[in-house]
Amino acid sequence: VGPDVIDIRKLYGQTGKFTYDSGFLSTASCNSKITYIDGDKGELLYRGYPIEDLANNCDFLEVCFLLINGSLPNAKQKKDFEELVIHHTMVHEQMQFFLRGFRRDAHPMSVLTGLVGAMAAFYHDAIDYAQPKAREIAQIRLIAKMPTLVAMAYKYSIGQPFVYPNNSLSYTANFMRMMFANPCEEYKINPVLVRALDRIFILHADHEQNASTSTVRLCGSSGTNPFAAISAGIACLWGAAHGGANEACLQMLEDIQANGGVEKIGEFITQVKDKNSSVRLMGFGHRVYKNFDPRAKLMRETCYEVLKEMGLENDPLFKLAMTLEKIALEDEYFVSRKLYPNVDFYSGIVQRALGIPTEMFTCIFALARTVGWIAQWEEMITDPEYKIGRPRQLYVGETTRKVPNLSDRK
Ligand code: ACO
Repeated sequence: VGPDVIDIRKLYGQTGKFTYDSGFLSTASCNSKITYIDGDKGELLYRGYPIEDLANNCDFLEVCFLLINGSLPNAKQKKDFEELVIHHTMVHEQMQFFLRGFRRDAHPMSVLTGLVGAMAAFYHDAIDYAQPKAREIAQIRLIAKMPTLVAMAYKYSIGQPFVYPNNSLSYTANFMRMMFANPCEEYKINPVLVRALDRIFILHADHEQNASTSTVRLCGSSGTNPFAAISAGIACLWGAAHGGANEACLQMLEDIQANGGVEKIGEFITQVKDKNSSVRLMGFGHRVYKNFDPRAKLMRETCYEVLKEMGLENDPLFKLAMTLEKIALEDEYFVSRKLYPNVDFYSGIVQRALGIPTEMFTCIFALARTVGWIAQWEEMITDPEYKIGRPRQLYVGETTRKVPNLSDRK
C-alpha cells in the first residue's frame, strides 16, 4: 500500500506536495550502504555479506569493524581494532557513583539509558563531532564501554561488587566475566557459551532503519552528540514491539508454562486471534520479514547448541516454544498474515540458558545494536546531503478560532 500523496496547497495554502505514511510503511528516510534486507526472501546482508556467513565465520568485533568501515578487517587491522577497543573498556571511575544514585530495583534499561546519556558528561573532551577524530574516539568508547556499563547495571541490581574488565580476554568473554564472576571464586570461560553470546551480538548488530535506529538518526540529525543520540535509541529499543520483545516473549512462555504448559497453547492461540484481546504472540511477526527472519534460523541453531552444552535438551520452556512455533506456523491466522518467528522468539531461551536474567535481555540487545547505531549515525553525519530530520504532519485539528473570554468558556 503506497502512501497517500497530499496536495498541501489545499491544506495550508502553501506550494508543493507531501506524503502521508503513518508508520513509514513505504517511505525511505535516508540512503544507506550499511544493511540490506529482502523481507520476501528472508535475506539480511551487512555491507553485502550474508548474515549466515558472518555468523559462521566472524566474531563480533570483526562485524563491528565491518559495519563501521565498510570492509572486513585483515589480520593486522583485526588485531589493532581489538587492542583499540580493549584499551577503552574501563569506564570513568565517577560513573559508578552516578550509577549508585539509581534504585537497585530500577529496570536496567532505564539505568542504561541514563548511563549512556551521561557519557556525554564524562567524556566531553571530544564533544566537537564535526571533527572525524572526535567521532572516532566516541564510537570506540561506546563499543568498548557498553559491556562494562551493562555488567555494572546488572551487578548493581543484585547487590554484588562490580567486576572490572580483564583485557586479556576477548570482548564477549570479558563481558561474561564482568556479568557472572564472583569475587570468591575463579570464573571459568566456556567457549561454547561465549560463541553463542557472540552470535547473539552479531545477529543484533544492525537492522537498517528500524525504530531505534531511526530514532538515533533523527536525534543525531540536530547535531547532538552521539552519546545523547544513542541514549535515545536505547529508550526506543526498550518498547515491547521492538527490543523489549525478547523479554516479553520469555515472560509469555513462562506464563503459559505456569498456567498448564503445552496443554494450554490452544487456549492461548485462541486469545491471540481474538481481535478484542490485545494479546500478541510475542517473538512472531516482523515489519519487513514476510517469509522468515534469517536471524531466527541461526538463533534456533544456537539454542540447540547451548541447551546441549548445558545439558538442558529437555528444558520444558524450549519444548513449549517448539510446540507453540509449530502450532502457529500451521494456523491460518498466522499463515495468512505472514507471521513467522523473529529473532526474539529464540534469543530469550538462549539468554536464559546462559544465566542472563529476563530483565537484562534488552540491555544485551542494546549492547549489540550500539555498533549499528554508531555506523548509521556516522553515515548520516558524513552525508553531504544530510539535513536535520523534520517530518511533516497531516493536521486534523481545529481551524483558526478566537480565544473566548474566561467567563464565556463552558
Ligand atoms: N501476534 C498476533 N497477531 C499479530 C502479531 C503477533 N505477534 N503480529 C502482527 N499481528 C497481526 C496484527 O494483529 C494484524 O492483524 P490484522 O491485519 O487482522 O489487523 C496483522 O498481523 C499485521 O500486524 P501489524 O501490527 O500491522 O504489523 P506491523 O508490521 O506493524 O508489526 C510487529 C510488526 C510490531 C513486529 C508485530 O508483528 C508484533 O507486534 N510482533 C510481536 C512483537 C515482536 O515480536 N517484536 C519483535 C520484532 S523483531 C525485533 O525488534 C528484533
